Amino acid sequence: MNASGAKCMTSEELYNLSNSGAGTLITKSCTISPREGNPSPRYVDLKLGSINSMGLPNLGFDFYLDYVLEQHESGNDDIFFSIAGLTLEENIEMLTRVQNSDFRGIVELNLSCPNIPGKPQTGYDFERTNEVLNKIFYFYTKPLGVKLPPYFDLVHFEMMAEILNQYPVQFVTCINSIGNALYIDDESAVIKPKGGFGGIGGAYVKPTALANVRMFYKLLRKDISIIGCGGVETGKDVFEHILCGASMVQIATQLMKEDTRIFSRLISELEEIMSSKNYKALEDFKGKLIEL
Ligand code: DHB
Repeated sequence: MNASGAKCMTSEELYNLSNSGAGTLITKSCTISPREGNPSPRYVDLKLGSINSMGLPNLGFDFYLDYVLEQHESGNDDIFFSIAGLTLEENIEMLTRVQNSDFRGIVELNLSCPNIPGKPQTGYDFERTNEVLNKIFYFYTKPLGVKLPPYFDLVHFEMMAEILNQYPVQFVTCINSIGNALYIDDESAVIKPKGGFGGIGGAYVKPTALANVRMFYKLLRKDISIIGCGGVETGKDVFEHILCGASMVQIATQLMKEDTRIFSRLISELEEIMSSKNYKALEDFKGKLIEL
């Protein structure tokens, strides 16, 4: 599937994703009111990935709720709805409306947007994450997972896993971009917002993404699935995410570079690797990384 943010903001982009070879799709992270986002340039392709500071441009909660309800009416409930309120109250308001709607898909609650000046990433504040999940699971009973930022310290993995294991979280998506990096071309930043600081995706982040998938696969309850995200460019990258424990993968940077044709290419490359190894199903190698 796409990662939230990549080609999933407008009706046309969502239509193209739904008619691609992707297993499913996710909508652009939304806020209650539509947002223009940050000034451009705010997304730049780099040789080994991408940098972005979009600032949550989106068409507003009602637009995406209408879209997923339309999909429900045409029989498609295998769809992910990304929610990214700027406050806990905003998330509660959106999730209350999702709870009370006919939506039968899956919510990905974004705890890791790095691009809003003055708003810390919830996923880096462990106490706050616990409070957010506590308040949300008090009333929200439909399938819900969380999009996490990358962690780099073993104690942080353990702290976050301990919190998540206390709640009926269905999945975690690892990882959002590595936040607040700086890329320079000649003497200049390449994006305008925040003095050039933005989230990095693509090949740069794959080893960090794999480590996050692996650690959460080991530390979380077995009924919490992992969606791998970070640096997927080829079927081999998909294979490695699954080997670390992912059940699915999301694509952002390479989808931006290559468009929706990428999904059928990745599937055939993955199938080729699987048949060369005599694997018939993802379960034959999921989580089975050889540790020396
Ligand atoms: C944006 C970036 C993210 O990484 C995210 O998770 C949500 C929103 C953005 O800048 O639009």
